Amino acid sequence: MGEQIAGLDVLGEEYYADPHSYHAKLREQAAATEIVLPRGTKAWLVTRYEEGRLALADPRFSKHFERFPEVMERNRVAGDQPITFDQSLVQHMLNMDPPGHTRLRKLVTKAFTARRVEQLRPRIQEITDRLLDEMAGQSEVDLIDALAFPLPITVICEMLDVPMDERDEFRVWSNVLVGGGPDVQAVQEAGAQMAGYLSRLVEHKRANPGDDFFSALVHASEDGDQLDQMELIAMAFLLLVAGHETTVNLIANGVYHLMRNPEQLDKLRADRSLLPGAVEEFLRYESPVNQATFRYTTEDVELGDVLIPKDSVVVVSLSGGNRDESRFPDADRFDITRPAGGHLAFGHGVHYCLGAPLARMEGEIAVGSLLDRFDLTPAAEPDSLRWRSGALIRGLHSLPVSLTPRGPR
Ligand code: HEM
Repeated sequence: MGEQIAGLDVLGEEYYADPHSYHAKLREQAAATEIVLPRGTKAWLVTRYEEGRLALADPRFSKHFERFPEVMERNRVAGDQPITFDQSLVQHMLNMDPPGHTRLRKLVTKAFTARRVEQLRPRIQEITDRLLDEMAGQSEVDLIDALAFPLPITVICEMLDVPMDERDEFRVWSNVLVGGGPDVQAVQEAGAQMAGYLSRLVEHKRANPGDDFFSALVHASEDGDQLDQMELIAMAFLLLVAGHETTVNLIANGVYHLMRNPEQLDKLRADRSLLPGAVEEFLRYESPVNQATFRYTTEDVELGDVLIPKDSVVVVSLSGGNRDESRFPDADRFDITRPAGGHLAFGHGVHYCLGAPLARMEGEIAVGSLLDRFDLTPAAEPDSLRWRSGALIRGLHSLPVSLTPRGPR
């Protein structure tokens, strides 16, 4: 790793281009290693599977938003003052510990039932088919623009009833907020606009309830308890960002590796019952969420062979755990037939991804339907493609593919 501060590696462009070989090096050395995050905060990066899984589920690694600014400040070794977000966007369940987390998770689970997700299947298929129809006249497309991005975004915007003509603004705000670029003012402005917009959206749903997921969320109640205005805004924000920034990379990273490994692509074409397992391997091999969100220690914690002091920032590398040889033999080999279950791509413990069944369904429908309709070959040298900057998300900027329509089967 190029740059160092206070003797610690700084995660930057070199890391984004290839996090896997860096994780492999750290995994050899210790369960967790101190590094400096892109914005200048010192953190412990956990790169092994077993210890990563422990840290994700151990309550001594807190996610509660209240002490976050203080802990981040304490661990800052470079960079400007950390960015402060609009408060109404921060107080969501991914930034809480039990019992506050338990309460919110219970209420949202009431609206996000397995039945409601399953009911989305025909609509997800319909959106996919329409996107594939639009691709049909072209010999080459950017698969991210044409399919991987619009599919999940359309689904989550429909669930939350965000009107079609306002979705482009969302894409911009969400990218600014998650990409966390260097422009502090831009990030704060995007946060304020997002918060204002979501507040109006909640008001609208209160006044005009329907049979949709967001109405169910606004009206979900548990023993007389309901989400208040601020909680609804934060929840909608969490769901929209999760829906915008993750599944796109499950689809694109998966197709990228299928094209790089034609024998795997052939296997999947020959036996479509391999599709659910293939999606698990996409998630394991090139995890869309590279690092879990920040945690901090509430006391000194022994994790494997290291002692992490109280008030340290801790980042669990989901990609690192998913390439750990001790859990997944021959972990650097992409193999859609391997038992990839138990991977950490959706996290672990109380914050385990709420949207996992939806993401899996979208991934299966998108990739399955794409293979039904087209033969695919890379339209650019795979090694020339660029990965997005940022340590949180692992995804390509673009994925050019050449398409040949397949005849009816
Ligand atoms: C392939 C796609 C996805 C991946 C890889 C993914 C990954 C994750 C991970 C790793 C976490 C835990 C983070 C942590 O503990 O630090 C998480 C939490 C969460 N995800 Fe996802 N996610 C995906 C799609 C979605 C979708 C589509 C939605 C919603 C529609 C969603 C909603 C959530 C929510 C609400 C949480 C917070 C849960 C809690 O705090 O209890 N995710 N996701």
